[in-house]
Amino acid sequence: MNVAVLISGRGSNLKAILEKEKQGKLGNAVVSLVVSNKPDAKGLEIAKSYGKKIFVLPSHKSQTRETYDNQLAEILEKNNIDLVVLAGFMRILSPFFVRKFSNKIINIHPSLLPSFPGINAQKQALDYGAKVTGCTVHFVDEKVDHGPIILQGIVTVEDDDTEETLAKKILEKEHILLPRAIKLFSEKKLIVEGRKVRIVN
Ligand code: GRF
Repeated sequence: MNVAVLISGRGSNLKAILEKEKQGKLGNAVVSLVVSNKPDAKGLEIAKSYGKKIFVLPSHKSQTRETYDNQLAEILEKNNIDLVVLAGFMRILSPFFVRKFSNKIINIHPSLLPSFPGINAQKQALDYGAKVTGCTVHFVDEKVDHGPIILQGIVTVEDDDTEETLAKKILEKEHILLPRAIKLFSEKKLIVEGRKVRIVN
């Protein structure tokens, strides 16, 4: 099962996925492509260090979202991609792209959705005074940070937490849950029924 991981930056989730794959713990999933919209994304070096094929698709101001997403879809199709993993990919995908890869795109978000969608989710949780937050792995639908939830991990917010300490604690959970969701998907253990995702044995 061919997986493409889409990144824009640091790539710590990508690294967690590649490490699991190396250990033979990613089920039937094979990361066959890493795509970045940023030429200088640190994650590209990580991809290369694991011997992965990379593709940089920068966006241009003059380009429509659809044009970009069309190019992206073409690359993914050329590489026979079965699952698209958004691991810190800082672009919103157009409805046509989401429909094309319906229930084949998963995202990781650093909050317990539906709380705190969008950017700066950790800061949002702190500012709100939430006592717990965490991360969510979900299928991507046409709305941002909205699709059916696959896995969630809980993190306690302590009084002395800062945005940085909270982000670090959440990231530790992300690194466990995202590879786990990919493994489950690759083993066909995720059954989507409306908003609900059933995990079968
Ligand atoms: C993570 O916090 C993830 O939840 C969010 O973007 C960040 C990506 O971090 N979607 P990294 O590039 O995987 O280190």
